Amino acid sequence: MRVIAIDQGTTSTRALVVDTKTSEARVAHTVKHAQSYLPQGWVEQDANELLANVRACITACGPADAIGLANQGESCLAWDAVSGEPLSPVIVWQDNRTADDVALLAARSDAADMAIRSGLPFDAYFSASKFAWLLAHNADVRDAYRAGRLRFGTTDAFFLDRLTGVFATDASTASRTSLMNLATRQWDPALCSFFGVPLECLPEIRDTAGMFGSVDGVPVSASVVDQQASLYGHGCRVRGDAKITFGTGAFALAITGSDIVRAADKGLVPTVAWAKAGAVIYAVDGGVYDAGAAVDWGMRIGLINDVADLDTFDAPAAIDRDLVFVPALSGLACPHWDRSAGALWLGMSGATTRSDLQQAMIEGIALRTAEVVAAINMLEPIGDTIAVDGGLSQSSYFMQFLADVLGRTVARSNFAERTAFGAAGLAASAFGETIVIEDKITEYAPSADRQAAELRARRFSEAVQRSGGWRG
Ligand code: G3P
Repeated sequence: MRVIAIDQGTTSTRALVVDTKTSEARVAHTVKHAQSYLPQGWVEQDANELLANVRACITACGPADAIGLANQGESCLAWDAVSGEPLSPVIVWQDNRTADDVALLAARSDAADMAIRSGLPFDAYFSASKFAWLLAHNADVRDAYRAGRLRFGTTDAFFLDRLTGVFATDASTASRTSLMNLATRQWDPALCSFFGVPLECLPEIRDTAGMFGSVDGVPVSASVVDQQASLYGHGCRVRGDAKITFGTGAFALAITGSDIVRAADKGLVPTVAWAKAGAVIYAVDGGVYDAGAAVDWGMRIGLINDVADLDTFDAPAAIDRDLVFVPALSGLACPHWDRSAGALWLGMSGATTRSDLQQAMIEGIALRTAEVVAAINMLEPIGDTIAVDGGLSQSSYFMQFLADVLGRTVARSNFAERTAFGAAGLAASAFGETIVIEDKITEYAPSADRQAAELRARRFSEAVQRSGGWRG
C-alpha cells in the first residue's frame, strides 16, 4: 500500500510517500510558512496558509491508499462552523500570552484536582488557556459562539474539518489541551469549566489510528501529535523506549505502556502516545521550548551564518571554560515551568569569540535536554541508548556532547524523517499493515568520565537558577 504522511510542524510542512511493500520512502514536498513573533512572546501563524501547504503536500504525493497526518501539538485556533473560515490566527504552542491567566488558575483551590484530571502542569503552552483567551479577547470568536457557529480545535481538527468534513481530533492531540481527562480520554466538563472553554465547541476525540474521513477518496487513517509520531517512527513500542527530537524545541518522550505516570509535581507531562483499536499507550514527555528556535534566532541576529559552523569546535567545551548559555528564549519548560525565565550567556570575557558563543549555545540546548531526560529517568527508567532526530542531531559536536552529558549512547539514523514515518506507520496500522525501512545508525558513546558530566550538570543548573524569574 502507498501511504502519504504529512508532517505539519511548527516551521514547515513536509510530505513523505511510503510504499509498504517495497519499503521505499521519499520526501515529495517541503514548504515553510510564515511565523509572526509579536511583542511580549506572542507567536502566531496563518491557518489558511498552513491548510494550503497541507493540500499542496498531499497533491505533490500523487495517488495513495492512506494518509497519516502529524500536527504541531498544542497550537490551536477558532473557526466558523458554517464557512470553515478561521476566526483567529493559529496561536502557536510557544506563545505565552496567557501566562498570567494560567498563574491565576494555578493558584485556585481546585487546581490540584484539575491537574489530576488533565495530568498536566499549568502553563500557557497547553491549548486550554489559548481558547479561553480567544473567547475573552476576540469579538469574532465571541459572535460566533453566540450564534452557535464556533469551533475550537488544535490545528489537526481544523485541517480535518476542512479537508474531510470530519470535525475530530485524536487522543494524543487532545491530551495536549488540558481539557481531556487523561484516564477516560474524553473532554472533561470540570476542566472545560475551570478553563472557561465551551465543551460543545470542541471536536470529537477519536483513536489515533482510525478513520478521519477522506481527501479526494483517500482515507485519512491516522492523526497524531508530531512528537508522538516520531516516537512511533523510531520504533519505540515498550515501556522505557525513548527518543528525543530536536526540532523547534527539543522533546524527549518515553513510553509508559498502559500506565499514566502522574508526574505534574516533577514537572513532567504524562501524555497519550497513541490510541489504536480502543487500546491506549501512554508516554511521559519533557520539553525544551527553544532548540532549533535558538539556532534560528542565532541566525537572525547574525551570530550564526551557517549551521555547518555548529558541526565541530576546536576549543574545549565552553562550559568547562565557565561559559554557559541557557536557552530560555520562551522561558523554561520541563521540569521548571517558568515562563518568566530569561535566556542568558554567563561567563564571557574580553577573549570570548563568536565561535565560543555558538559552542555555548548548542551545549546549553544539550544540557537543558539532559535535565529533562534526568527528570524522566527518575520516574520511568529509560534504556542505555536513546534515539535522536531533528536538525541539531546533524552536528557531530552536539551529538557527542549530548552523549557525554546524558551518560547514554545517542543513536542517529540516516533516515531523518521519523515524524512523517511514524504518521505513515500509524496510518498503515489502521489497515493492519506495518512498514519497515532499512537505515544506517550512527552511535555516539558517552565519555567514561562521569564526574566531569556531573560537574557540567551542576554548573549548568546554577546558570538555570540565575535565568529563573528574570522577566517581570
Ligand atoms: O509541543 C510542540 C511540539 O509538538 C512541536 O514540535 O517539531 O513542530 O517543533 P515541532
